[in-house]
Amino acid sequence: MAGAGGDGSLLAISDLHVRHADNRAIVEGLRTESPDDWLLVAGDVGDTVEQIEWALRLLAGRFAKVVWSPGNHELWTPPTDPVTLRGVARYAHLVELCRGLGIVTPEDPYPAWEGRGGPVTVAPLFLLYDHSWRPEGFDTPEAALAEAYRTGVVCTDEYLLHPDPYESRSAWCAARVAETARRLAERDPALPTVLVNHWPLVREPTRVLRYPIFAQWCGTEATADWHVRFDAAAMVYGHLHIPRTTWYDGVRFEEVSVGYPREWRRRSAPPGELRRILPEPDGVPPSAW
Ligand SMILES: [Fe+2]
Ligand SMILES: [Fe+2]
Repeated sequence: MAGAGGDGSLLAISDLHVRHADNRAIVEGLRTESPDDWLLVAGDVGDTVEQIEWALRLLAGRFAKVVWSPGNHELWTPPTDPVTLRGVARYAHLVELCRGLGIVTPEDPYPAWEGRGGPVTVAPLFLLYDHSWRPEGFDTPEAALAEAYRTGVVCTDEYLLHPDPYESRSAWCAARVAETARRLAERDPALPTVLVNHWPLVREPTRVLRYPIFAQWCGTEATADWHVRFDAAAMVYGHLHIPRTTWYDGVRFEEVSVGYPREWRRRSAPPGELRRILPEPDGVPPSAW
């Protein structure tokens, strides 16, 4: 289906967290407007392989193409999951699951969206984080982590996201960044990109976090210029559970998360609205930084 597009749109969503029944109802309600629509899923679909497969199978049956990037929740090994794979082996298992459903993963050739607003190269990424987004005054990852434990703001990844066979999540992140930069450099230079990663490529979106210390689990300084370097028409991310549109260096960043029921119930917007990435929505102020 690469190269298709027709009258469809390139749509995005993330952080479906289908462990929650109310979120499963949102996923069941997701519909295309055109049979040519593609859906970008930017991670945190569910916590167990069974949950992830349920949601992705449903979406793969509804959209012309689904493109997936893993979130931290997909990479957890929860004690309740009969699938006990950890780290790289768990990721590889999910990639195979996606391929069986016809879903594009970060391990596959990057497809071209040639529908309205295209052509662009759609690049699902899996980059993780490395504790380089630290608060002022904390010069090392160790110091930032110690402060997180001291203040009680510790990401559950510390307990459930195992980096095997890497010695740390930061080491896994470094390997992912190096390999992904190589692949992006080899893409068709004539086309702009739509970059999809669970974590934002730049630190600025984390400045509005309620607990700034949490930013160390949200990305890496190593990708600070990627939206420019790899000619992004848009960057799609989630993880922060703060849905919004912002612009950095003239590039549109879309946080497309649904989040937990206790979060989306507080918002005025209805949950589960698909965000249109292309064609570019009207009325978006290009200078709205
Ligand atoms: Fe999430
Ligand atoms: Fe997340």
